[in-house]
Order: sequence, then structure tokens, then C-alpha cells
Amino acid sequence: MMVNNRPTPLPHLAGFSQRDGQWYAENIPLASLAKDYGTPLYIYSKRAITEAYQAYDRACVDKNGQRRARIHFAMKANSNLAILDCLKRFGAGFDLVSGGELARALAIGAEPASLVFAGVGKSAAEITAALKAGVKCINVESIPELQQINRIATALQCRAPISLRVNPDVDAQTHPYISTGLKDNKFGIAYHEVLKTYREAALLPQIDVIGIDCHIGSQITTTAPYLDAVDKVLDLVVQLKKEGVVIRHLDLGGGLGISYGTETPPDITEFTNTLLNHVAERGFAHLDVILEPGRSLVGNAGVLLTRVEYLKPGAEKNFCIVDTAMTELMRPALYEAYHAIVPIQEKELTPQTYDVVGPVCESGDWLGRDRSLAIEEGDYLAILSAGAYGFVMSSNYNTRARPAEIMVDGDKAYVVRDREHVNDLFAGERTLP
Ligand code: LLP
Repeated sequence: MMVNNRPTPLPHLAGFSQRDGQWYAENIPLASLAKDYGTPLYIYSKRAITEAYQAYDRACVDKNGQRRARIHFAMKANSNLAILDCLKRFGAGFDLVSGGELARALAIGAEPASLVFAGVGKSAAEITAALKAGVKCINVESIPELQQINRIATALQCRAPISLRVNPDVDAQTHPYISTGLKDNKFGIAYHEVLKTYREAALLPQIDVIGIDCHIGSQITTTAPYLDAVDKVLDLVVQLKKEGVVIRHLDLGGGLGISYGTETPPDITEFTNTLLNHVAERGFAHLDVILEPGRSLVGNAGVLLTRVEYLKPGAEKNFCIVDTAMTELMRPALYEAYHAIVPIQEKELTPQTYDVVGPVCESGDWLGRDRSLAIEEGDYLAILSAGAYGFVMSSNYNTRARPAEIMVDGDKAYVVRDREHVNDLFAGERTLP
């Protein structure tokens, strides 16, 4: 068998660290969290979320203390109420994409004026709920949606504040599944149709045009595609002004990538400064800028803890079979995404190369391939960078109960979501009489 001793590329982590051969979440050994709460287990670090938010916020306030941008956390990345509440207390607003996310935002007492509502297929019920709640803005992605919003606002006898989501046709150079700003993506209004659509919007009696929006993709690791998108959007704002359509805010979406190990995305504060300075240099400092980061706020603030069930030698490969699967973390199966995997306690063993796989009945159910690990059955592994698009994309496939979620703050651990019970998974099902 081939022994692969390549070190695992590790991301920079603010809330998790290795000391004396043991991994910690802030001041708590992961081993004691595994013992107290079982596995699989999501663990978040409040410190890491705080630091990431502060990195954005530093750039959002100018030298004179004037706020030039606001952070609306894209809660699709992680919508646990504790995380939302934490960010709300820091002053964040939220970017929502469903009635369910709206309900979560309202459940933590978020100000409706701090909510922007995006999404390519909002239902009538969702639009109604958003208008009744009084959200700051609905980001509109098509003319039929615009007409639908106008009809609903007429029925509710209210006005609907909207932005149009522009598809700037910019290549974000990311995975095709998470690229959203190319003209063959389903998102946004085609660049050459935007002015026409604003003209139509201006004629609709219950519609208030307040902003313009774009989002080009996710896990973007260079600034250049953003600057291209900003330029294209600002060119439209200039045209709109000539036509008498006043744009008050500029929503630049989210998408800044994180390091999962080998990527080198720009520093959050530098990236945000570059973007905001560019907007100002083009003469648009008066616009309120909205940023919708998701992954870069929480991605490296979470790990997924799992237990090694069996070490299974195979003809071609060795398998490390763990108690976590694609059901808990879908990113490797869906995007062939890399997540660093580390034993939470170092051992004096010869490392072996394993594919780390789950118990689900699919060959796509893998978490890491060709990983060099010094482990035995019963050991625990931490799958790193699992704070974004981890739990939120989990499922109950194979009737697997979803894991508990824990938030660590210093030397305290809080259960922020209970582990599901198997019986609850089919409690709503009925057999025929
Ligand atoms: N705003 C809009 C309109 C979005 O569509 C998204 C993400 C964001 C903000 C936040 O983007 P972020 O800052 O998190 O990159 N499940 C995929 C990611 C899908 C992202 C979809 N849109 C993954 O696991 O990589």
C-alpha cells in the first residue's frame, strides 16, 4: 500500500487551534465536546465569527466615522438562530432567499428594514410575507416577478421597494455550480435588458425603485471579477440617472471566498476597502452600499466532528469509514470540494492513506480522498471549514437524524440545536387505513 505523507493543507482558523497534539475550539478540547455531545457534531466558534465580521466592518466605516456600507449576512450559508442572533447584535442585516429564512430573521427579532430578499423564484406567498413584514428591499430577477410584486402590493395597498438584480455577464472563475453572473446562468436580468426593465418598473404604480443589485458567484478568490461587475453596474446607474431613475443603494452581493487549505483569497478588510474605494473613485460615494457575505463570515468558524467507525483495507484503496456522511456535509459529493480533515488528537502511528467515506449507500458519499491519517478505529476526526453550507445543506437521506450544533464562546459550549431523533423524522407520515 502506498503511504502518502503529504501534509494536509490547513486553512487559517481564528477559533480552532492545535496545542500539544490536541485540537481545541477556542478553549475547549474537541475531544471533550465529542464525549459530551456525541458525533456527528457541528461546532462553531463565536470568536471566529466575531473576527470575520469585524474585518468587514472595519472597512465599512470611513476615516471620519461615516458608514459607507452595510453587511447583510447571506443566511443561506448558515441560518442557525444563534449565529443570526450573534451577527444581529454586531449590527448586521440579512440577505434572505425564502419565506423560511424570513421567518428565521423575524424569529431573532431582526429589524425588517435590515432585510433584503433575493431569489429567482419567489412565490406569491413569500412576496406577500416579505411585503407584510416591511423588508428593506426585494431584489427582482425578472419582469414577470416585477409584475407579480406590483399585483401583490396593490392587493395589500402598500408600496414595494425593489432593486433589479443585474446579470453583469462576468466570469467569477469559480465552480460552475456556484457561478451566478454569467449570461447563461438563470440569475438576474440580462445586462442589455436592465434599462428597459427599470423603465417598466418605473411605470408600475405600486413599485418603488430604490436600488440596483448584482451577485456574480461564490467562493471567489480574486478581486478583479468584482471590480468588473461594479463597473458594469455603475455604468447602468449613470444611464438611469440620465433617464431620471434615482438609485439610492448599490447591492454588490456576496461571494468572497475562504481558504479551505490551498486557496489564497484576499484579506476581508483589504478586499472591502478596494471595492468601496473603487465605488467612491467612480463618483458614487453617495450610494449606500450593501454587501451580502455568507461563506467568508462563517465558513472557517465551523468544524464537523466525526468518529472513525472502521478502517477497511481495499484492493485499490483504504477506506476510513466515519459516522458522518454526505447527509451532514454535501459539499464534497456535490462539488468535489476539498475540506481538510484532521485527527483531533495526535498519535504516534505510521500514517496511512485513506479515502474518508460515510455510511450512506452511494459511491458519491465521500468526505475526503487520499488523506494521510495516523488513526485507529474509535478516533475522532474534525472536518474543517464546515461552518458555511454545511448543516444548512444537510438532509435526512437514509433516515439519518441530523447532528446537534454547538457554539463555543471561550470556555463555554452552548447547544444551539438539538440532535434530531429518528422517531421525529417520520412522525408526520401515515400509512393507509
Ligand atoms: N447573495 C446572493 C444573492 C447569493 O446567491 C449568495 C450565494 C450570497 C449572497 C452569499 O455568497 P457567499 O458569500 O456565501 O459566497 N452551496 C455552495 C454555495 C452556494 C452559494 C449561493 N449563493 C457551496 O457550498 O459552495
